[in-house]
Amino acid sequence: MEDFILIRPSEKYAEQIFEYKKEFIEAGDSMDGTGALRRIEDPMEYIRICCDYEDPEKVPENRVPATQFIYLRKSDDRIVGMLQVRHRFNDYLEKYAGHIGYSVRPSERRKGYAKAMLKEALDFCRELGIEKVLITCDEDNIGSEKTILSGGGVYKSTVYDEEEKVNIKRFWIEL
Ligand SMILES: CC(C)(COP(=O)(O)OP(=O)(O)OC[C@H]1O[C@@H](n2cnc3c(N)ncnc32)[C@H](O)[C@@H]1OP(=O)(O)O)[C@@H](O)C(=O)NCCC(=O)NCCS
Repeated sequence: MEDFILIRPSEKYAEQIFEYKKEFIEAGDSMDGTGALRRIEDPMEYIRICCDYEDPEKVPENRVPATQFIYLRKSDDRIVGMLQVRHRFNDYLEKYAGHIGYSVRPSERRKGYAKAMLKEALDFCRELGIEKVLITCDEDNIGSEKTILSGGGVYKSTVYDEEEKVNIKRFWIEL
C-alpha cells in the first residue's frame, strides 16, 4: 500500500480541510470524526479549536479532551480521511459515539483507507493508556461495521438514539 500518515491538522492543511468539508456537503454525507468542522466556516478557527480540544484547560465545558487527526497520502499530500480520538467519555460518548469517530472522503472510498487509519488510531489510543476502545456505528453502516471488525471490534450491544432516530451498534476493542 502507498505511504500514509496520521497527523494533527495544521495551518498548512487548513484550506484542504475545507475542501474535504465541501466534498461531504456536495455528497450529502456525514463528516464523522471531524469535530467542529460542520459548524465552523473559518479554516484557521477550526485549527485553533482542534488545539483547544487537546488541552484539558481549554476544552469547552461539557466536552472531553480529544485529538483531531487528518490522514494524509504522502504521494500527493492529499487528505483522504479524518479521525477524532476522544480521550475519555461523557454520557453521550459512552452510550452512543464512543472513543473514535472517522470518515473517508467520498472520492477515496473502498481503498482500505478507513481500516488502515483506524489501525493507526488504535496505536495512539494505546499511547494514551486507553485499554478498551469503544467504537459505534449506525446499524445499517456496513462499511463502518466492517472497519470496526477489522480492528478487532467485538459486538456488545445496540442502542436506540432518540435524537437521530437510529439504532446504533456498539463494539469494544481490547488493546
Ligand atoms: C465508513 C467509511 C469510513 C468507510 O471508509 P472506506 O475507506 O471506504 O472503508 P475501507 O475501504 O477501509 O473498507 C472497510 C471495509 O468495509 C467495506 N465497505 C466499505 N464501504 C462499504 C459500503 N458502502 N458497503 C459495503 N461494504 C463497504 C469494504 O469492502 C471493506 O470490507 P473488507 O474488510 O471485507 O475488505 C466511509 O464510507 C465514510 O466515511 N462514510 C461516512 C462517514 C461514516 O459513516 N463514518 C463512520 C461513522 S461510525
